[in-house]
Amino acid sequence: MKDWKSIYQERLVSVAEAVAHIKSGDRVSVAHVGSEPFALLEEMVRQKERYRGVSLYFLLSLGDAGYMVPGMEEHIRFHGIFLGGSTRKGVAEGRGEYLPCYFHQYPEMLRARGGLDVLLISVTPPDKHGYCSMGMGIDHLPELKDDAKIVIAQVNPSLPRVMGNSFIHVSEIDYLVEADRPIPELSPAKITEVERKIGQYCASLVKDGDTLQLGIGGIPDAVVTFLTEKEDLGLHTEMAADGVVDLIKAGNINNKRKKINKGKSIATFAAGTRKLYDFLDDNPAFELHPVQYVNHPNIISQNDNVVSINSCIQVDLMGQANAEVVKGMQFSGVGGQVDFIRGANMSKGGRAIMALPSTAAKGTISKIVPFLDHGAVVTTGRAEINYVVTEYGIAQLWGKTLRERAKELIAIAHPDFREELKEEYARRFHEKLR
Ligand code: COA
Repeated sequence: MKDWKSIYQERLVSVAEAVAHIKSGDRVSVAHVGSEPFALLEEMVRQKERYRGVSLYFLLSLGDAGYMVPGMEEHIRFHGIFLGGSTRKGVAEGRGEYLPCYFHQYPEMLRARGGLDVLLISVTPPDKHGYCSMGMGIDHLPELKDDAKIVIAQVNPSLPRVMGNSFIHVSEIDYLVEADRPIPELSPAKITEVERKIGQYCASLVKDGDTLQLGIGGIPDAVVTFLTEKEDLGLHTEMAADGVVDLIKAGNINNKRKKINKGKSIATFAAGTRKLYDFLDDNPAFELHPVQYVNHPNIISQNDNVVSINSCIQVDLMGQANAEVVKGMQFSGVGGQVDFIRGANMSKGGRAIMALPSTAAKGTISKIVPFLDHGAVVTTGRAEINYVVTEYGIAQLWGKTLRERAKELIAIAHPDFREELKEEYARRFHEKLR
């Protein structure tokens, strides 16, 4: 084989040349979050007239998604298993597609839909051996880089060199484009008082030695602020966010008691601020691995005492959770919620927590409801959640009858909505609650 430096030079092209290799009808998958190859995507949008019917498979964009602009869908059509602020409206208007899928099955699902023609990634400049890190959105990349007919990489010196199964050799890339772009940041929102209370209740369910999965948003951010007295925690999570950095630095998370990936914090992607990106850069204690490993319930459950903390839009009186649909509209996606709840359930001593504020829309809507909304979906089934936590306390559901569950959930609903929930309880169970 030629030395990697010659390969690099031979395959180095302009962004216009690289993107010109994409053809009408191609299935194109793109790295996401901080690894989003903005230079390549922007060029695709610029060259849109060259394409018809390109399917763009994408997860979470931190950019402004020019491919979602009305009229673009004939050229480049978004397909996602998770919707965010930049893609939700387009899908609701019929200009893109939502695919229900457990995140750990994403690579397999892409194969079932015919596999990939093109993979677009961001990479760090190569190391002395010719290996580039694919940065922060790893999930399906290590699995599918070998399947794609063409791999195009934006070489971005600003991308953190994240460790784990996150490397690709220059010889595996067909076209390289050099473009230094700042990495978009996802700033944590200010933790509200309600989130602080929920975080405190969740943290009370965490014991020394537990391995944690923490999602994104105010609640996980609040949970971590209450874990500073815990010892020997482990981290095996879908998404790494800023919140865990201080816990790792302070030694609360040391991954010592893990059964697998001992001594390492594990995630499949990372999104946060510069604080997180600097921490992940060249850090052998934090690894990103493929999603079919990190999110597979069989892998998650190999650690003991796994605690998963997730959130949802609403939960009914039986404990079914809708985490995806708001007012009949696909809002987000299944993501890794079910993967981790199942993994936590299967883990020896594991606990699956669903944590949510008791109300939405400035207190006008109860998130604990007699029935899920018309058009809502059950993301997580009633037999899978161990605890539901709101700012009013902890409902323990596992091992409880329907009657007991309803009672537990009404006790943590917002007081303004308890009466109507009690009316439903009386109708359903022929018993009046005081
Ligand atoms: N009825 C009506 N609207 C509701 C609602 C309800 N029951 N619950 C929430 N909303 C609205 C909120 O008011 C908010 O609207 P706004 O954006 O106009 O302010 C919006 O829906 C989002 O609610 P919020 O509570 O801010 O959501 P979040 O950021 O905490 O995320 C989920 C909650 C469920 C969307 C998110 O956890 C998710 O996507 N989960 C599925 C995937 C997953 O769990 N992955 C885990 C691994 S990371």
